[in-house]
Amino acid sequence: MKKTIKSTIALTCLVLAFLPLAVFSQDKAKPWPVPADAKSKVNPVKSKAALADAENLWNDKCSSCHGKKGLEDTSKARSLDTAPGNFSTADFQASTDGELFYRTKVGREDMPSYSKKLTDEEIWEVVNYMRTFKK
Ligand code: HEC
Repeated sequence: MKKTIKSTIALTCLVLAFLPLAVFSQDKAKPWPVPADAKSKVNPVKSKAALADAENLWNDKCSSCHGKKGLEDTSKARSLDTAPGNFSTADFQASTDGELFYRTKVGREDMPSYSKKLTDEEIWEVVNYMRTFKK
């Protein structure tokens, strides 16, 4: 009997210790394929143009989830089902401008669609701004 109580307590402790992991674990972003024609679209906005406007736009609309520097270092980022991803990494920066444009415009799950909230030109400007996060 005593043994059963002891092992029950031990088991309960174990479950409680690992519970936070289960509750707070966040999915890593899955691959996000982009149609070939969208992927190869050329950014019509010159990389240095309108960066200040894009920064305001980023801070206003994107930084709550992605962080000011795209490092997903916000409490909101941690509360989402899917991690927004670290935009300073070589992996992220390896995406083409067309891919970043498409993902911003179309969205997926926790990532909102900006097709109605931003013009195409604004999205291209923000794509250039996301390039400044490169390490
Ligand atoms: C409500 C939170 C939220 C906001 C606001 C938000 N995002 Fe996201 N974003 C996410 C999440 C979560 C993902 C990962 C989605 C996935 O992989 O399914 C993501 C993914 C992305 C990606 C694709 C990342 C990759 O690896 O290619 C881009 C690009 C992006 N966001 C740009 C933006 C831009 C630009 C804005 C503002 C105009 C913005 N996001 C606003 C949550 C957000």
